[in-house]
Amino acid sequence: MSRLSRDYYLSEEILSRENEDLFAHSWVFVGLESDIPKAGDFLTASIGAFPVTVIRQKDGTLRAFHNVCRHRGVTLLEGKGNTGSSVVCPYHRWTYMTDGRLKGIPNAATCFPDIDRTDYPLKDAAIGETNGLIFVNPDPRAEFSNWIVPVKDKLWPHDLGSKELREGEPLIYRMECNWKLFVENAIDGYHLAYLHENTLGGPMPESNIWERYGDHLVWYAIDKNGQRDPLPAKSRKEYRQYLTKQIPHVKDKDYGGVYYMFPLTIIDSNDYGLNISRLEPRGAGQCDLIIRRWLGPGQGLDERKYVPGWDRATNLIQSKNWKKHPLKTNDFQTEDVWICEKIQKGFSSPAYEHGPLAKGVGAEQSIRWFHELYEAHSR
Ligand code: FES
Ligand SMILES: [Fe+2]
Repeated sequence: MSRLSRDYYLSEEILSRENEDLFAHSWVFVGLESDIPKAGDFLTASIGAFPVTVIRQKDGTLRAFHNVCRHRGVTLLEGKGNTGSSVVCPYHRWTYMTDGRLKGIPNAATCFPDIDRTDYPLKDAAIGETNGLIFVNPDPRAEFSNWIVPVKDKLWPHDLGSKELREGEPLIYRMECNWKLFVENAIDGYHLAYLHENTLGGPMPESNIWERYGDHLVWYAIDKNGQRDPLPAKSRKEYRQYLTKQIPHVKDKDYGGVYYMFPLTIIDSNDYGLNISRLEPRGAGQCDLIIRRWLGPGQGLDERKYVPGWDRATNLIQSKNWKKHPLKTNDFQTEDVWICEKIQKGFSSPAYEHGPLAKGVGAEQSIRWFHELYEAHSR
């Protein structure tokens, strides 16, 4: 498969196939180790259609489970918190130990006289950790090291435990586009100098590099001295102009500005901050992007009210709430959302046929790699 046909961006049936054939065995960022420091602490996330949870065990280790009751399928834990020593289903109060064993069944003697509790533990998912980040894979047999090792030596240097970084309010974009369109735009080097002329201001394709490490694509800008830089020159200039303080421990610039970790994790890193994002597909033509942000010294931690399209009541950022034309917002993320939603509309036209992809690692070779990864992992 060299290109994904239009249907891949429009069909609910293909999205459900992706859940079964792709997301069912994909590693996705779900949170930080430091989010859940104490026994019983948990976090939840969705990996495609798979609700999952990670729970800190009594012995300090972490375990990941499918967050679905084995009785009638209710999702169990919500958000984050501490579940104590057990997980209780709100429907009929089946009760699981934090290690997943089914312990309690109300009225078991009359309702389930023959049940063997060991037949119904919470289903395991696989868990992996690197640099304080937790990744979960719905397939309990998946091996994290196979996935992370190719990029392990190239990762961002940010220490999320350091006092030099503070976490800001997360941003949640609810977008009217297929998740793959968002990815393809995020890794498209050809558009940076054009769509983002007034925001990122480039770089031109010849000053971008995408490198591939296993299932991961890493982006660098090349500065005017030919050195690698995780930030485009215009953004660096703006940070300097506003006298934003750099994060001292990440001043060495030889790491990627963007990490796309196939299929649903995107990390933006530079010497002013770190964003860790997860895509959550919601339908063939809808996805959420949940961005957690860590900022360097002196930066505002809650920027939501400045983000075009943010609605206080729902805490969602949506194009329907835009008050200005996206190209007038001076916000590159808004420009990207605008374009992704416009591509979704264009792909919806039966008259649309794919045009050629730009050659070169600084242009659209990355999209070819994405399609190769998609094909290799869909089974
Ligand atoms: S669905 Fe969970 S106890 Fe019945
Ligand atoms: Fe963009």
